[in-house]
Amino acid sequence: MSQPRHFIDLWKLESADLRAILDDAHTRKASRRGWTTGMVDHDTPAKGRRLAMIFEKHSTRTRFSFDAAMVQLGGATLISNAADMQLGRGEPIDDTAKVLSRMVDAVMIRANRHEDVQRFAQNSSVPVINGLTDKSHPCQILADLLTFEEKLGPVAGKTLAWVGDGNNVCATFIQAASKFGFKLNIACPTAYHPDLMDLARAAEQQGRVEMTEDPAAAVRGAHCVIADTWVSMGDTDGEARLDALEPYQVDDALMERADKDAIFMHCLPAHRGEEVTDAVMDGPRSVVWDEAENRIHAQKSILAWCFGAIG
Ligand code: CP
Ligand code: NVA
Repeated sequence: MSQPRHFIDLWKLESADLRAILDDAHTRKASRRGWTTGMVDHDTPAKGRRLAMIFEKHSTRTRFSFDAAMVQLGGATLISNAADMQLGRGEPIDDTAKVLSRMVDAVMIRANRHEDVQRFAQNSSVPVINGLTDKSHPCQILADLLTFEEKLGPVAGKTLAWVGDGNNVCATFIQAASKFGFKLNIACPTAYHPDLMDLARAAEQQGRVEMTEDPAAAVRGAHCVIADTWVSMGDTDGEARLDALEPYQVDDALMERADKDAIFMHCLPAHRGEEVTDAVMDGPRSVVWDEAENRIHAQKSILAWCFGAIG
């Protein structure tokens, strides 16, 4: 039996496959112009297939966008919070994966621990998709790159600036910099630096990732400025983070230091008045609502790849 196509870590995926997923997302989105959200793509790559979604953490965008994505691909979904499953009462992940593999055609999991998603995949005979863990958020970054390219053209050779906590979303941008060939500048306090393994791996793969503590230096010449919450789900040191990250707020003055056509991205939910001001969130450079919608389009192509329809 061939191995299922899991979508968990960008490091484990080929650049050509990732590029094919993004290209498919551009084409698929363009071909639906004027359609309602429930209309099904003509090629129906998920026809006869069901996606199970398991949530250990809160979600709005991931939950609804995966549901819309499967409907548009001609498939169906089944959603559960982990706490409502036997998983929440201690049934082993391995056993859960083996059971669900017999009942659905793919599984999307949002988990507290990255290792749990990896373990689920090791025991699953159907594709497993990472819907966010403490370590990464690959579906988000595919949607972000789709948005970037819609606004500013191919991301290869461009400069993106991450400002704030070196968290799970930042980690996937580090992975994506190598895979898609863009430069990533990261401004963060030393105490909240990104995962050192990701940084080491980026260096091994000639990824152009630069670190600084100075937000102004990071955004200089950047085509996109990216922020995220300073306190991610599962973080227990909220007060200390808010203090340390205060100088990293993205405001109009910081955006002015970026490229003249620079856009602002945020995966949402945003904490207005903390990592970003109202003026930037609601201003002309903000593409956050396109970014949220693009979760649907990017995930459709991730699912199509998992089902073997592309790449
Ligand atoms: N950006 C994102 O993943 O949003 P949710 O937490 O609402 O799914
Ligand atoms: N870094 C945030 C992203 C939310 C989509 C978190 O993990 O809570």
